[in-house]
Amino acid sequence: MRTPFLAANWKMNKTVGETRDFLAQFIPQVRDVSGVDIVIAPPFTSLATAAAEIKGTNIMLAAQNVFHEEKGAFTGEISPRMLVDIGCRYSIIGHSERRQYFHETDEMVNKKIMIAKQTGLGVILCIGESLEEREAEKTFDVLSRQLEIGLNGIEYQNIVIAYEPIWAIGTGKTAAPEQAQEAHAFIRERLRIYYGNNAEKFAIIYGGSVTPENVDSLMACRDVDGALVGGASLKAESFSRIVKFRKVQ
Ligand code: PGA
Repeated sequence: MRTPFLAANWKMNKTVGETRDFLAQFIPQVRDVSGVDIVIAPPFTSLATAAAEIKGTNIMLAAQNVFHEEKGAFTGEISPRMLVDIGCRYSIIGHSERRQYFHETDEMVNKKIMIAKQTGLGVILCIGESLEEREAEKTFDVLSRQLEIGLNGIEYQNIVIAYEPIWAIGTGKTAAPEQAQEAHAFIRERLRIYYGNNAEKFAIIYGGSVTPENVDSLMACRDVDGALVGGASLKAESFSRIVKFRKVQ
């Protein structure tokens, strides 16, 4: 049995004050939720505040990005050790916005995962195809490449895979549950090649316009183990409804 994993990716949103306001509402709303991993990924500037506010609650902290060296002359970057030190359990790695706007390659993603894991930081590895790639029927090639290079030399523990079709991110166009299930089942097949039966232990979560309205049907899919939520995670009311998804058959 895999524990459902529901994560909020705030991207470049919320000041320290806004983070505090969100958590003041959100913590009581999810206090009684059990059997679900609840994660929030605020911007770096809000991590310390969020860490203090969620202490003793059922909420875990993630960063949105991490650098692939321990320390040194890398102006503007943040190391895994700094994130662990501040209370992060996870970092998102390889989000499509990082790949697209900051030219992160699969090789860089691999280095980041490697050092994050050495430091004891869990990883939310994002993969997914563009609309162009889907239309050219390259979806499975893209996912295979991102997994093969991204996970090269990496052991299976402490990794969550987020399938985020780029055409569904921030567009209001969610993948249909069947499309999500098809991609997730494919991802699990690939993981089986590298990790054998341990592939069953991976949470494979879906991201791309997840809302309170569509979360239940996505979570009903066999291989959809959770969600990475952008826009709909910015309001406590809406993210708490997502965390409290209902199992429909
Ligand atoms: P969205 O973003 O929910 O706003 O589509 C998801 C993500 O990019 O992680």
